[in-house]
Amino acid sequence: MITLSDENARLLPVTVLGLGPMGRALASAFLKARHPVTVWNRTPGKAGDLPDRGAVVTDSVQDAVRAGQVIIACLIDYEAVRATIEQSPEDWKSRQLVNLTSGEPAQARQMSRWASARGIGYLDGAILTPTPAIGTPSATVLYSGARGVYEAVQETMAALGGTAMHVGDDPGQASAYEVALLDIFATSVNGIVHAFALASAEGIEPERLATFATGIGGLLPEMITRFAQQIQAGQYPGDRSTIASAASGITHIINTATAHGIDAGMLTAAKSIIDRAVADGYGPEGLARLAAVLHKSG
Ligand SMILES: NC(=O)c1ccc[n+]([C@@H]2O[C@H](COP(=O)([O-])OP(=O)(O)OC[C@H]3O[C@@H](n4cnc5c(N)ncnc54)[C@H](OP(=O)(O)O)[C@@H]3O)[C@@H](O)[C@H]2O)c1
Repeated sequence: MITLSDENARLLPVTVLGLGPMGRALASAFLKARHPVTVWNRTPGKAGDLPDRGAVVTDSVQDAVRAGQVIIACLIDYEAVRATIEQSPEDWKSRQLVNLTSGEPAQARQMSRWASARGIGYLDGAILTPTPAIGTPSATVLYSGARGVYEAVQETMAALGGTAMHVGDDPGQASAYEVALLDIFATSVNGIVHAFALASAEGIEPERLATFATGIGGLLPEMITRFAQQIQAGQYPGDRSTIASAASGITHIINTATAHGIDAGMLTAAKSIIDRAVADGYGPEGLARLAAVLHKSG
């Protein structure tokens, strides 16, 4: 029979380095799962209610690392992670570093090599959901790097809830997913604010545009799935809409925006890809073909 104390014995001590909004959410989830938690932040006074809930706050990175077996870094960038870990030339034999800081695939690979040279068991991670999701079924966190390190921390990281997945031994893979998904987010946000600016310039109230704009947003899940299938198959039927038609449509947006003095830089960049596709003879094909055109131009 497993007793409560046996269960507690399995709960590894966790250290969270970084108490921005995400670091605090992570620490909170580990506390909720009853892990012993130690937290550190460069600037003191960011722990909120974590100490009242049982977290140990320390102003020394060395003490923080010493207290944990699973060391979570969640800082602004990889440079900050490196500078922080360098403050703790600890014995890492019984510790693993899980870096949940956002970054680029090349940075993750470099960080993994850096950690390995110091005998640090390193796992890179990418958090794909916002702070309120952490510790709930809707959280999604991807991990990549040494599988042995993932297996060592998997049970502990389950405290973050939702979906946790090891996406490959290449430490850059989790970041690669993150930047690709951020690409969708960044360009969508730009498209949304651009549309509001254009509509305002034409005298359309934002809330009236929103009534129709949410319908456009609703088309995206099906389109993403369909594009994935087409890109995977290398076949881009133009039965629904074509690149030639998109060339015409994007020209209308650019002309209207430019007439109102609204920056159309992102649209002209998108149009140049469409124009290249048309010049290469892909005008009659579907829009998913543009991914292949972009990839070839990379
Ligand atoms: N917030 C979200 O919803 C979300 C979602 C997914 C992923 N993420 C990722 O999670 C990471 C943390 O995000 P966040 O929202 O918590 O806040 P953030 O503003 O990205 O990062 C703030 C943290 O970084 C620390 N920091 C900055 N420069 C530092 C340095 N040179 N040395 C040591 N620490 C340094 C800050 O310490 P000080 O307090 O001393 O400035 C603070 O703890 C980021 O990589 C972010 O992209 C966040």
